[in-house]
Amino acid sequence: MDSANKNVDLDLKEALEGLARSEKRLPSKLFYDKRGSLLFDEICELEEYYPTRTELGILEANLDEIVEEIHDDALLVEPGSGSSQKTRLLLDRLPRLAGYAPIEISENYLARIVEDLRAAYPALPLFPVAADFTKPFRLPPTAERIDRRVVYFPGSTIGNFTDEDASRLLAGFADACGAEGGMIIGVDLEKDPDVVRRAYNDAEGVTAEFNLNILARLNRDYGADFNLDAFRHRADYRPELGRVEMRLVSLVDQSVSLAGEQIPFAEGETILTEYSNKYTLERFARLAADSFTIDKAWTDDRDWFAVLALSTKR
Ligand code: TRP
Repeated sequence: MDSANKNVDLDLKEALEGLARSEKRLPSKLFYDKRGSLLFDEICELEEYYPTRTELGILEANLDEIVEEIHDDALLVEPGSGSSQKTRLLLDRLPRLAGYAPIEISENYLARIVEDLRAAYPALPLFPVAADFTKPFRLPPTAERIDRRVVYFPGSTIGNFTDEDASRLLAGFADACGAEGGMIIGVDLEKDPDVVRRAYNDAEGVTAEFNLNILARLNRDYGADFNLDAFRHRADYRPELGRVEMRLVSLVDQSVSLAGEQIPFAEGETILTEYSNKYTLERFARLAADSFTIDKAWTDDRDWFAVLALSTKR
C-alpha cells in the first residue's frame, strides 16, 4: 500500500475512534483538505481574525533580529509548512541558509511547494519530508548532518494541542534540532475575550463553513452521510482554561453512517474539532521548560501575539 492510502486509513481510523467516544471528537488535521485549506486562507483575510495579520506585522517589524537568531548557515525545519508564505520572508533574508526542510502530511501538496520553492530559491538546498509532524519523524540524513537546526513553527499552531501534547511535541522538535538547535515560534496571547470570540465567530460565517468542512470532507472522502444543515458551528472562549473550544453541535437526534458504522447523535450533542489556546508568556515558558529556554520575545503594540526565539536545553 502506498503511503497516501495508508494515511487515509489511519485518518479514518482516528475519525471512527473519536466519534465512538462519550465526548465525540475529530482530529483537526482533517480540516486541511484542498477546500479546507482555501477556507482557512479566507479566514486569515477576515477583519475579525487577528492572528495571521498580527504575527506578520511582528515578523516584518523585527525581521533583522529574528533572522539573526536563526543564523545564516542553519537548516530551517518547518513542521506543517503549508504554502510557506511567512517562511519566504525569512528565506529572502537568509541567502546562505544550509537548507530548508518543509514537513507536510500531503505528499501531493508537498511536491507542489517544493516545485515553487525551487523556482523562487534556486540556490537553496531543499529537504522535503512527507510526514505527520505530530508523530515522531526523521529528517533526511544529509539534513541531520547540518549542526545548527532551527524549527520554524508560526501561526500559533502549538495552541491547537493540549498542554500535555504541546510539551511532548516541543520535546520532539528539540530532539530533531539537537544540541545546537533553536526554534522560532508564534504564540497567540490572552486578550480581551470579545476580540477572541469575534475571531472565531466571524460575521460572514467563513469560520462556520471551515468547521463544517470537516464533515463535508468525511462525506467526500469516506462516503459518510453527514447532513451539513443538521449541525452548527460553535466556538467558546473559556478564559479560565486559556483556550477556545471549537465544536459542531447536532441540531436534532440523528444517526450518521461512516465506513459501515452507524453513529448516533442526540440533539445538542457536540463533536470537539479543535482547541486554540491563548497563552501568557509564563504559561508557554512552562510548557516548553523541559526542552527549550526562551531567548527573545517580540510582540505587537497591543500584546496580542508573540514571536519567540528559543534554544534547545541539552
Ligand atoms: N489553527 C487555527 C486557530 O486556532 C484554526 C482555526 C481558525 C479554526 N478558526 C477556526 C478551527 C474555527 C476551527 C474552527 O486559530
